[in-house]
Amino acid sequence: MVRKIPAGLVLVLVTLASGCASGAELDTLKPQGPIARSIDTLSDPVFLIAGLVFLIIFGATAVIWWRFRDDHSDEEFPEQVHGNLKLELLWTVVPTVILAVIAVFTLMTLSEINGREDNAMALSVDGAAVSWEPEIVVVGQQWWWEYRYYFDGLDGIDLSDTRHLPPADIVTGTQMVIPVGEEIELKITSRDVIHSHWIPALNGKRDAVPGRVSPWKLEAEKPGVYFGQCTEFCGLSHSRMRMQVVAMTPEDFQAWVDRQIQPAVAPESEVAIRGRATFEAQCTRCHVVNGLNDEDFKGADLESNAAPNLTHFMSRTMFAGGIFNLYEPDGSLNRTQLEAWLRNAPAEKPAYAQGRRGMPNMGLDEGQIDDLVAYLQTLGKTPPLEIIAASEVD
Ligand code: CUA
Repeated sequence: MVRKIPAGLVLVLVTLASGCASGAELDTLKPQGPIARSIDTLSDPVFLIAGLVFLIIFGATAVIWWRFRDDHSDEEFPEQVHGNLKLELLWTVVPTVILAVIAVFTLMTLSEINGREDNAMALSVDGAAVSWEPEIVVVGQQWWWEYRYYFDGLDGIDLSDTRHLPPADIVTGTQMVIPVGEEIELKITSRDVIHSHWIPALNGKRDAVPGRVSPWKLEAEKPGVYFGQCTEFCGLSHSRMRMQVVAMTPEDFQAWVDRQIQPAVAPESEVAIRGRATFEAQCTRCHVVNGLNDEDFKGADLESNAAPNLTHFMSRTMFAGGIFNLYEPDGSLNRTQLEAWLRNAPAEKPAYAQGRRGMPNMGLDEGQIDDLVAYLQTLGKTPPLEIIAASEVD
């Protein structure tokens, strides 16, 4: 009888653990890079020790409860062990040793995670050979993430005024593209409130704090798409502030850079040209398209301080802070969702549009929406189907 109680506890634990979904997008227990792996390597034995302590304490409690369940005599006190030196030493020294051992390994892991590797990647940027120490500036904002690439390095780049950051070589939103096998240094900051950047397969969380630049790093071993989510409550659409890392081979990354560095190509079709005129009239107050309104950055400052740079909009696979797929599984445009977004954005994703956060309802008519969709489709190249499939969001 007595032996069955710990077995029952094990059963409960196993049942709880089996509640964890397999193939979940934000699984912290499936590291896909060396940094995330070192965290996992630390947490596995810590969970094991904590589990054992749990079993011993609760097992002993259950055993005592069961054995003395019928003992209702209130005359006899149990034997008092207060002042028993042996016992008191035991339950002071054992936990101290356990915590001291865990502390040593925790500090070792922390120093590993915070260490910096001197890695440089040979790239060609706009025809010039560049040795890029992979660094990406990450800017959180209600409710999306911006990723800025400065291929000449960040020396002399002033990141203190996040509302007027110096023009970057490449600016993307919601999807960060990285080469595999390289340690990517992140400089994480925010334009408004505190957010937290988290790509569980590649590393833990780091807060994005306005007025501060927090260092962090990521590394992916294999090409693929790794999901993330803002993990600091940041207002109305906090849960709709998602992001992804798209990791590519160095060759694919070079090809991506070659395309992204290009300004937008002028549209040719009549409907797309009309769409560009609508875009200039309605959208350039917040959105930048390199080659169209990048000359004076004033434009991107009036309404919401900044909105996603749309120069290569179609090269991403999702929009509106990573909550909608831009493509159908067959690689065609998710026109229904994109039109709904243009028709009334706050209805699709709650935002304080009157408080100048998020995209407002622009009051566009159906003709203008059709024109805009045609224009947006000229911005950037559709990624390969396998990236579209791997990055699909629910
Ligand atoms: Cu940004 Cu929560």
